[in-house]
Amino acid sequence: MQILISEIKYWMTEAGEMIKTALFDDALTVDTKSERKDLVTNVDKIVQTYFAQKILAFDPKAKILGEENGQDHLNKWNGRVFIIDPIDGTMNFVLERENFCIMLAVYEEGQGILGFIYDVIKGQLLWGGRDIGVFLNEERVPQPANVSLKDGLLGMNAAMYARNSHNAQIMGDRAMGVRMSGCAGLELMGMALGRRVGYVSNLAPWDYAAGGVLIEALGMKMSHITGRKLKLDGRERFLAGTPSAYEEMLALSQQNDD
Ligand code: IPD
Ligand code: CA
Ligand code: CA
Repeated sequence: MQILISEIKYWMTEAGEMIKTALFDDALTVDTKSERKDLVTNVDKIVQTYFAQKILAFDPKAKILGEENGQDHLNKWNGRVFIIDPIDGTMNFVLERENFCIMLAVYEEGQGILGFIYDVIKGQLLWGGRDIGVFLNEERVPQPANVSLKDGLLGMNAAMYARNSHNAQIMGDRAMGVRMSGCAGLELMGMALGRRVGYVSNLAPWDYAAGGVLIEALGMKMSHITGRKLKLDGRERFLAGTPSAYEEMLALSQQNDD
């Protein structure tokens, strides 16, 4: 496990350097995928290719699930699976040049073992797992307090809030405030660091795999917004929170459906 962790940390650092160099050189090519707001850059693709090469050189039997390069679906979850989001928050990456991250999760036999979220611009790597605890760079992260919804900030998907999907607006009203960062990884990092009481969104597996491992290792909860297990396949309405906030939001989400 130690060797695997050291390798992944090295890959995350190298990928971060590639991203910073591309920003510094102003070498971004931006394309759209499904619609005009669904952005992808040359850097997203290059970084995923980099991870795929490193992973297969390290573990030729491993499987890869990642957002780009046609690797976005997996039929079998046996053995070791690496789940990659080469740049999470691509819109922020393109328009803000900050508030994005790299994410990688390791699953074994269908169970999340390790998660890594790297805020490239801040130089902060959140990493860990159920059996080893969670660390910010080299410092152990304590389990956040079980803060109730009314006492914390709630991360939120803008479209779900605007449409009041699953009573998202009521959840937001009950919280101390609502934050919409446009980066799932940084929202989940915020939960792990006690800066968010929860997160409501519409996510693909690579958006929540790494953060999910980390927040669950810290005693927080996540599921589909209806309470069922996430499928790790396609986009799903996502709910996460401290145990207290999660239970309150789950009850609210079931009072109404869209
Ligand atoms: C997106 C971001 C965003 C979330 C979207 C994701 P991407 O990831 O995490 O916060 O609301 O659902 O697709 O496309 O920038 O990797
Ligand atoms: Ca993403
Ligand atoms: Ca992405």
